Amino acid sequence: MSEVKALANGFRYIEVNNKAASAKIALQGAHVFSYKPHKTGEVLWLSELSDFETTRSIRGGIPLCWPWFGMSENTNLPQHGFARNSMFELIDIQEIDPNTTQVVLQLTQTPVSLQMWEFAFVLQMKCTVSDTLRVELTTINTDTKPFKITQALHTYFCVSGIENIAISGLEGKSYLDALTSKKHTQEGVVEFDSEVDRVYQKVENDIKLKDTNKVVSITNSGSSSVVVWNPWITKCARMSAMKKDAYKEFVCIESANALEDFRVLQPQEHHTIVAVVSDEFV
Ligand code: BG6
Repeated sequence: MSEVKALANGFRYIEVNNKAASAKIALQGAHVFSYKPHKTGEVLWLSELSDFETTRSIRGGIPLCWPWFGMSENTNLPQHGFARNSMFELIDIQEIDPNTTQVVLQLTQTPVSLQMWEFAFVLQMKCTVSDTLRVELTTINTDTKPFKITQALHTYFCVSGIENIAISGLEGKSYLDALTSKKHTQEGVVEFDSEVDRVYQKVENDIKLKDTNKVVSITNSGSSSVVVWNPWITKCARMSAMKKDAYKEFVCIESANALEDFRVLQPQEHHTIVAVVSDEFV
C-alpha cells in the first residue's frame, strides 16, 4: 500500500510500503528521504534537523541537483539548481507486484524557473521501491533551443561511523579535488579521516560502500561522474540543518553528470540517469 501523507505543516510526501521495503518520497524536489528494505533496514541518512519546510531542501536522502550541479556560472543562483526546492506533480503510483512499487513525479518550467533558467523542459523522476531502490531521472528538452545540463542524484548513505567505511570501485580513477582544485588519481579504496569533496570521472563500473556489517552497491547509468563528499568537522559545523557531529553518520556518493560529463540536449531530445542501490549484510 502507498499513500500520500502530509506533515502538520502541510509538507506532502508519498509513503510506500510493500512486501520488500518501505520508502518516503517528498513531492518537493521528488526527494526520496527514506528507503528501508525490510531485510536490512534504513539505507539513507536523514538529518535530525531537517525541518521539511517548503522551499528549503531536505538535508539527507536523495536531493536532485538539476539543471546544474554545484554553483551556476551566475553565482546569484542557488547551488545545485532549483529542482530540489521545486514542487513536483505526482503522475502515478503503481503497485507492480507485491514487492515492487513505482512512483512517478514530474516537474515542468514555471515563471519562477524561467527567470533562473530560460528553457522549457520536462523533468521526470521515476522511483522503483523493491528489494533494490531504482531512481531514474529523465530530462526532456521541450524548448525550441538546445540546453546544457549538469546534474546529480546526491545520495546521503547512513553509515555506522565515517571512520569505519571504505568505498571501492574508484581505484585508479582520476578525480578533481574540489578542496584544492587539483587533479589526482585514486590509489586504493576511499577512506575518511578529513574532509573529502571529490568529483571522480570516467567511472563506468559499480561502486561499493563497505561498512562494518553491510555492503551497499550502487549501479549507475547515463552518468560517468561520481561525487564523494563528507564535510568533516569544520564544514559540518557550518552546514545548514546538520548537527555538529553529523558528519560521522553519513557519506554522500553522488551519481552525476558533472564537469566534462555535462550533456547538451537538442529540442525534443531526452537524457536519463539511473542509480540502483542495493545492500546486504556481510
Ligand atoms: C556536494 C558538494 O555535492 O554537496 C559539496 O560537493 C557541498 O561541496 C555539498 O557542500 C552540499 O551542498 P548543499 O548545497 O546541499 O549544502
